[in-house]
Amino acid sequence: MKLRYLRWPTPVIRASFAFALLVLAIAASVAWAQAPMVTDDGAAARIAWWRDAKFGLFIHWGLYAIPGRGEWVQWNEQIPVDEYAKLASQFIADKFDADAWAATAKAAGMKYTVMVTRHHDGFAMFDDPGSDFTAMKSAAHRDFVAAYVTAARKAGLRIGLYYSPLDWRFPGYYFPDLYRPSAIQMRDQYHRQLNELASNYGKIDILWFDGGGESWLGFGGVQFKGGQWSGRTRGQSYSGSFSWQDDQAIANLKKLQPSVIINNRTDAPADFRDREGDKALGDFDNQHPWELCTTMAGGVWGYKPNAKVKTRDETIRLLVSVVGRDGNLLLNVGPRPDGQIDPEQAQVLRDVGDWLKLYGQSIYATRGGPYLPGDFGVSTFHDKTVYLHILHATGKTLSLPALPAKILSCSSLTGGDANCTQTGTSVEVTLSGNPDTVDTIVALTLASPATGINPIATPLATKPVSAAGASGL
Ligand code: GLC
Repeated sequence: MKLRYLRWPTPVIRASFAFALLVLAIAASVAWAQAPMVTDDGAAARIAWWRDAKFGLFIHWGLYAIPGRGEWVQWNEQIPVDEYAKLASQFIADKFDADAWAATAKAAGMKYTVMVTRHHDGFAMFDDPGSDFTAMKSAAHRDFVAAYVTAARKAGLRIGLYYSPLDWRFPGYYFPDLYRPSAIQMRDQYHRQLNELASNYGKIDILWFDGGGESWLGFGGVQFKGGQWSGRTRGQSYSGSFSWQDDQAIANLKKLQPSVIINNRTDAPADFRDREGDKALGDFDNQHPWELCTTMAGGVWGYKPNAKVKTRDETIRLLVSVVGRDGNLLLNVGPRPDGQIDPEQAQVLRDVGDWLKLYGQSIYATRGGPYLPGDFGVSTFHDKTVYLHILHATGKTLSLPALPAKILSCSSLTGGDANCTQTGTSVEVTLSGNPDTVDTIVALTLASPATGINPIATPLATKPVSAAGASGL
């Protein structure tokens, strides 16, 4: 297959286009959040395991690991397609060990993994006989997706595959009407590769789409109008006659993988929504399954040496803050060009796993609430137990609004004693001993299940602890 790339006419246009993409990236979570959700009868059952799992590993690994400047390096530096393709001959990946990846995810207490099978650069990490740009045809001569799926499954992890329909190599991505044959070629590739991923690797639990549908990265997702590049927002989206034909692609996927769940980055109804990046923690939402995906290091997804790594404590507090908002956390690593996960990141993941071994009962299989996030922290519950995650212990008595269920007992999971007093108007929690500064967890045992309790605002909060508040986690 012969592919041509598009040269941008002037540096000014290039720069303004890059800027437009940046702005759009920031708006992305808003656009994705509006995608329709699945409404069929099996939807709740299909996603039940995922809601209990809470914590997953995202893996961005591909040719972009070699330059080590993030997965957008080709775009950001406008590297010509044929230049970039040469990286395939350097992709030896001699320390790639899928079992080691799976062991790291397990040790972190993660229950699922999502591997990038093909990013926007177009390089397939799997065997696609229809493309010349695959790992099978690289120096490594391997199907990395096959190895990953086998290892993750053996380790008891649920299997997720990330796939980007868009491919920077096709001019038809940018101008679907002007470059119609190229757009058709790219769409054919999407349908073919999705079919391969759904057919050749056994049971797939999650298909994690990126850059399709009407999202900011979507087909014809940008326009040049009035001398400026701008993004197409949902509702004012691409108005040409071309389409990804997501309905067909997803129908085929679901035929091959009836229990697969998908995120909201296609035009098809989604099983869960995603929020992207450290700043997108957002508000409590127990109406739509959702996941925060973010990076462990440096704010980029692909490998970047010497990037600042989130600490154990930051990671634990982020996980708790997400779960208390009734979401999942998909935490990303960008392995090195040789295939190894950065040892510093792996160590943080193991440390978080050690914490989860002690306190996982307050995370796994819980739901967020009944107390809404506030100044004190967040809460989770499972059956008749409510867990208060006190993220901002003041040393004083914590006064929370009334709980419409009788508290039978209360105890601190993280050391020291907890004393709880319940009245018709409040619940007062006093801690003695040294509160855990990362997360003091107090378990309240109720006389009846917490499931039916409506979320309770915590008026003590000066403001909801959302993105900004959470950055100080
Ligand atoms: C964005 C980026 C991409 C990253 C993804 C993860 O869409 O384009 O590089 O893979 O988000 O959520």
